[in-house]
Amino acid sequence: MAKKSVTDLKDLKGKRVFVRVDFNVPLDGAKITDDTRIRESLPTIKHLIGQGARVILASHLGRPKGKVNPALSLAPAAARLSELLGAPVKMAPDCVGAETEKLASELKDGEVLMLENVRFHPEEEKNDPAFARQLAAMADVFVQDAFGSVHRAHCSTEGITRCMPVSVAGLLVEKELKYLGGALADPARPFLAILGGSKVSSKIDVISNLLSKVDALLVGGGMTYTFIKAQGGTIGSSLFEPETLEAAAKTLEQAGSMGKQLILPKDSLACQSSEKPDPSVPRQTFPSNAIPDGWMGVDIGTQTIAQFTAEIAKAKTIVWNGPVGVFEIDEFAGGSKAIAEALASSSAITVIGGGDSAAAIKKFGLGDKMTHISTGGGASLEFLEGKKLPGVEALNDK
Ligand code: 3PG
Repeated sequence: MAKKSVTDLKDLKGKRVFVRVDFNVPLDGAKITDDTRIRESLPTIKHLIGQGARVILASHLGRPKGKVNPALSLAPAAARLSELLGAPVKMAPDCVGAETEKLASELKDGEVLMLENVRFHPEEEKNDPAFARQLAAMADVFVQDAFGSVHRAHCSTEGITRCMPVSVAGLLVEKELKYLGGALADPARPFLAILGGSKVSSKIDVISNLLSKVDALLVGGGMTYTFIKAQGGTIGSSLFEPETLEAAAKTLEQAGSMGKQLILPKDSLACQSSEKPDPSVPRQTFPSNAIPDGWMGVDIGTQTIAQFTAEIAKAKTIVWNGPVGVFEIDEFAGGSKAIAEALASSSAITVIGGGDSAAAIKKFGLGDKMTHISTGGGASLEFLEGKKLPGVEALNDK
């Protein structure tokens, strides 16, 4: 990696290290329902503890819009981290201010302090330089390990690097860039991308960027139907984004002129509803370009499952971002499950974008069968779009 790593730093003993983690975890009240992001931060935190560093952790949780919201406190995350580490994690009352600074200055070698939600302050998301200086003043070194937040240019992800003598990547950020970056830069071929999700508008830039790199691109999910409509098909009540119709048509043309395979589902499972995906109404499979009025495409059909799994069996590198149906509803999860199972039994390098595709893989209990599951939703999407990630760009070069 072109950026300096936390493992490049020597003499960390006694140094105060500010680590930006992404502990934006799902909560049910004060109960963390998925602690993956906390677990994934352990290698960096343990490395620093092992070096005798004094570890100050910062994160956001949710979108409190610059106001204190006790329901979005990082205290449950600190408690979970403490359990996982088997060591105490102190909780600061805020992320700046006299009391927090005192706690940071009193840390002993190998101790860990969790700051309170940085987004309780409006300055954080404004990337306010004075606020960044306040955060930076507590530490000697900055470590970026919040892969899920590196697409945000906020004080704790980007601004702080301007006030720090040393800013390096943590082990999670390194791992994410190794797998996501490696898949795009130097894939074993055939290289296959599978893109799903509901909105074509949020994936069009990913498709454009990936077309130049992949050997084939499979499209599924709600976004299918804007492409089918652009080809002149009939999509009934399926999801459709009129404002993206032209972009979808251009993308199909782009693929054609590049000689790349952009494969749309031949058939779709549909439910008889004009309102919303509904498992309690009749269901039927139709050709994806001949869905009658009053029916809504909710998953890929059986022919498409066979075609997609055959493509997966041929591939040596596979990137999957976005489920191919409404996977949250069991009756409409069959296509996404078949894809996940095909990936699980493939010997290819399998890289899963964060967000919904990661949630789908976990729902099917196949997480440990993938080469890499990204912890970043928006961040992995922006990476696949080919965008620069401010929280990575700002780090010191090797
Ligand atoms: C995420 O969950 O994608 C990250 O934590 C970023 O959160 P945000 O979209 O609220 O910036």
